[in-house]
Amino acid sequence: MFFLCQIVALQHMIPKHKVDEILMTAQIEDVIADFVNIKKSGRQYKGLSPFANEKTPSFYVVPEKQIFKDFSSGKGGNVATFLMEHEHFTFPEALRFLAKRYNIELEEEELSDEQKQAESERESLYIVTEYGQKHFQENLHDSDEGKSIGLGYFKERGFTEETIDKFKLGYAKNDWEYFYKTAIDNGYQEQFLESSGLIKKSPKGDHKYYDGFKGRVIFPIHNLSGRPLGFGARTLLTDKKVPKYLNSPESLIYNKSAVLYGIYFAKGEIIKEDNCYLVEGYTDVIQLYQSGIKNVVSSSGTALTQDQIKLIKRYTNSITLLYDGDAAGIRASFRGIDMILEEGMNVKMVTFPEGEDPDSFAKANDLEDIQSYLNDNAKDFIVTKTSLLLSDTGNDPIKRAGLIKDIVSTIALIPEEISRSVYIKECSTLLDVPEKVLINELNKIRRKNHADKNKGYGAPSEMPPEEAGHDFEGDQQDKKVGLGDNIDDQEKDLLRILLNYGDKNITFLNEAKEEVEVNVAQFIVHEIQRDEMEFSKPEFAILLEKIEAMLGDDNWNISDIINHSDANVSGITAELLASRYELHAWDKHQITVPSEEDKLKRAVEGSIYAFKLKNVAKMIFDNQKEMKTAQESGDIDKAMLLQKEQIILNQIVSSLSKPSGRIIIN
Ligand code: CTP
Ligand code: MN
Repeated sequence: MFFLCQIVALQHMIPKHKVDEILMTAQIEDVIADFVNIKKSGRQYKGLSPFANEKTPSFYVVPEKQIFKDFSSGKGGNVATFLMEHEHFTFPEALRFLAKRYNIELEEEELSDEQKQAESERESLYIVTEYGQKHFQENLHDSDEGKSIGLGYFKERGFTEETIDKFKLGYAKNDWEYFYKTAIDNGYQEQFLESSGLIKKSPKGDHKYYDGFKGRVIFPIHNLSGRPLGFGARTLLTDKKVPKYLNSPESLIYNKSAVLYGIYFAKGEIIKEDNCYLVEGYTDVIQLYQSGIKNVVSSSGTALTQDQIKLIKRYTNSITLLYDGDAAGIRASFRGIDMILEEGMNVKMVTFPEGEDPDSFAKANDLEDIQSYLNDNAKDFIVTKTSLLLSDTGNDPIKRAGLIKDIVSTIALIPEEISRSVYIKECSTLLDVPEKVLINELNKIRRKNHADKNKGYGAPSEMPPEEAGHDFEGDQQDKKVGLGDNIDDQEKDLLRILLNYGDKNITFLNEAKEEVEVNVAQFIVHEIQRDEMEFSKPEFAILLEKIEAMLGDDNWNISDIINHSDANVSGITAELLASRYELHAWDKHQITVPSEEDKLKRAVEGSIYAFKLKNVAKMIFDNQKEMKTAQESGDIDKAMLLQKEQIILNQIVSSLSKPSGRIIIN
């Protein structure tokens, strides 16, 4: 018996030379990029840890060594380890996944009956689900019934052939046993067919099975790597007693609350657009996608979960909810909004005209109109929530007090103090309630939330009502410096000066030692552009862009920026404007009291110097690291080259104009 088991086990094994081939072929950076938003940074890639909740990237992929390292969770390893950690694959599952991705033939495509039995349950479930998907697709395209009923239905909904293929839509014949019999004939086991919901036990207790999705059109649900996990099956009957959708049951591979319909197709677009549209149904996803709005997913009718939000957060920090216009729909979204805010993400909401949903709207309009509708109608959560609640309460003072509490408790969930204070301001305007009152309420709620969570250990940071909005030392601000590349402070300093003093002039000596007057904003922008330097954070870059756009305008007006729709931008603007009296930082050691203009000039010079220095320092840091790797791996040529670069970088450092030295303008 023991002997037999060994033989079975051996038959499964992927031979050693295949394992080697797979691991040699797979490129860890490509594989990981399918799951995590990583960006190139020098010779490595980095991104937010997929294993921990963080704001500063500490997840590294090193192509040269074909390894990843996650400093947040401590996990690390090669491409297979990553898949085992991230997708919860076994080692053979990880290898099979990679073999498939890189078209490496494994002689196990057609499995023997014994092998099918011996497969792990998870893999078996994947296999029957994959089989189901193929079967339903074939029905749809190759059978008369499928073509006339299923395909006819999809066509009527406006889906093109291309869309139908892309989403691998299918049809289950209207027959009690057609799928069941075909699957058994092909060697698939009842046990797995049943736990995947493809077949069901007859309620008569006669141990017979019938087809789980008979007579329905099929929407396969895919995981991040495009493998089908389960199905949504829509009836074609209009009978109200028949459930509109039947969905696959929870199983080892299908965990409804952790899956988003459409994520496999949308993830790349979500990264590109830096936003994710969230809709209610399968058809909303497909119709929008077909129209060209591809960064869209659905929580498939269930209430949004924290796991689903975290999944989106791997790709973007912004979610836009698309809901039917009715108040019930909006109200149902409030809990989801709170959860998104709690994750520290931005959330907006678009509602549709009476009787329309994203599906019907996308079907009836072309891409340009859809895009402009979405852009024009994306409202801040606070506006939507406030106006809806206001319409309920009218002038009833008791109801109004409840409403204020309700909205402020949503704001209290936002982790960053800066964003909280921006929303408090907005809310104060919308509700016509003094900021002080709202801040008091906010502090009360945060104290309570904190006590509930921590049972009284320490206190949360509070905003002092006297200085409404001027104290921005947030409790959650992420000050972690990652590997010497954090130049936030220098960038902020420049932006602070631009916002507060951009319209002022300072005088410099030119080469001919004549005094010339220069506008502060023009000077700083010119300096940054000349050296082709960029700001590291998107909100900083947007701010700079806005300022650039105002250059040369007669009336310098920053209210546009303060009210920017991106809460990150308006938040940082508020923070920087609040600290306008920090000019002294650069002349701490001055003995005489310099004039206001002198101070400003030093601040400008100092900030530019610090910004450039830090940028070059980062290059030196990266260069040194590379040099070390090159030396360690014996790549002498490369090391020599890097050495030369190092010398140049050092020269740049000493050539940077020191603050309070002379700045030559050209
Ligand atoms: N849903 C479900 N079971 C139901 C009804 C709905 O699982 N009985 C889920 C489905 O994921 C569906 C989503 O909730 O896609 C939204 O429901 P609905 O708007 O009714 O479905 P649509 O997909 O929009 O269907 P259609 O447009 O074809 O009516
Ligand atoms: Mn619909």
